[in-house]
Amino acid sequence: MHDSWEILTHPNPNLRQRSEEFDVAQITTPEFQAFADKFAAKMITADGVGLAAPQIGFKKRIIAVLDRENIYVLINPEIVKSSEAKQESEEGCLSVPGVFGLVDRAKRIKVRAHDRHGRVIEIETSGYPATIYQHEIDHLNGVLFIDKATTITKGVINKD
Ligand code: NI
Repeated sequence: MHDSWEILTHPNPNLRQRSEEFDVAQITTPEFQAFADKFAAKMITADGVGLAAPQIGFKKRIIAVLDRENIYVLINPEIVKSSEAKQESEEGCLSVPGVFGLVDRAKRIKVRAHDRHGRVIEIETSGYPATIYQHEIDHLNGVLFIDKATTITKGVINKD
């Protein structure tokens, strides 16, 4: 499926590409199930609250999110509804180590995706988890939080 587990860091050009849809017929295969386990574990051992497949160089629309006590591995996630109301929170990213910044994002969202068993699910959430889903889905479109940060609160962005 994919066998590199190194987290790519900015300004690696792979982080700037749009990831492709994942073939949902493959979700129930043992290969994908093994990948999903490893991917979720990678997020946890890297001390992240979210991880997007392109961060390990796998340019498919797959994310892992730690949403309160649940770990979701989502395939082809889409934000189908987002509130006008915004919230600002401090974000960091495993791909931009040592840097934190304030980002404005929708306060409430609804995400539709396939879950790791291949079922279509919808997740409605607000607050910090809503920020995480938006941050991870941005990765699938080649967007990093430093593109959207209004203020960098800590660290220096590596330009080369
Ligand atoms: Ni990130």
